[in-house]
Amino acid sequence: MQRLSPRLKMAADMVREGAVAADIGTDHAYLPVFLVMSGKCPRVLATDIGAGPLCNAKSAVLNFSAADKIELRISDGLDKISPDDADDFIFAGMGGTLTAAILSRAPWIKDEAKRFIFQPMSHPEEVRAFLIKNGFKIVYENACFDLCRPYIAFCAEYSPFEAAERKDSYIYLGELFRCKNDAAAYHFTKTYKHLKNRADALEYAGLLPDEVRYIRGVLPDLKPYTKI
Ligand SMILES: C[S@@+](CC[C@H](N)C(=O)[O-])C[C@H]1O[C@@H](n2cnc3c(N)ncnc32)[C@H](O)[C@@H]1O
Repeated sequence: MQRLSPRLKMAADMVREGAVAADIGTDHAYLPVFLVMSGKCPRVLATDIGAGPLCNAKSAVLNFSAADKIELRISDGLDKISPDDADDFIFAGMGGTLTAAILSRAPWIKDEAKRFIFQPMSHPEEVRAFLIKNGFKIVYENACFDLCRPYIAFCAEYSPFEAAERKDSYIYLGELFRCKNDAAAYHFTKTYKHLKNRADALEYAGLLPDEVRYIRGVLPDLKPYTKI
């Protein structure tokens, strides 16, 4: 059995048992190989924007004799993917800004039967902001350490009738505040410090007073989940 890093395993655990999955930005295809070899998914579509990464993916697929279960496809985000291709869509190892831009180009994602799994390397708040604005509900979040670095992942489903009023801080907290492990606390501490430093610097320079007010409003909600 192929072993996955804790970061990718955290994302793999959010894929539903028996789902056909699509891994967007697959690179080495570790995740698709794990999902089919473990029996969790009958088939996986592994996509990437680059021919080089898809070459890496092809080597892994051939290595594990999984060509009948893993389809490789060049695609910029979801541009060459249709709703019929998969049930669960994974975006791991990408920035949150890119992920949100990819989602915004694919209106068909508003489908209650689909699940979207995110493991953003930066700006998770941009993905959460997109999800909330577009009627998605964050089902579950988790955090882990991988080689001493904290990573987070979350999954979401379209659920327009459950849309709740959210505080400004929700895009930073998501459902991760329920996760009481050290990796989540470390993540929140990093986010808190980053936001506080930004607000202090903007205030000192007399710039963007609305943003300073916004950040100052968010910080008290984050603080209980930090190690500060
Ligand atoms: C850092 S790697 C992550 C690989 C793997 N998903 C992981 O988490 O280990 C990011 C991959 O995303 C791909 N990528 C970047 N922009 C993309 C886009 N717009 N659409 C699809 N793939 C993209 C890159 O080519 C690269 O292979």
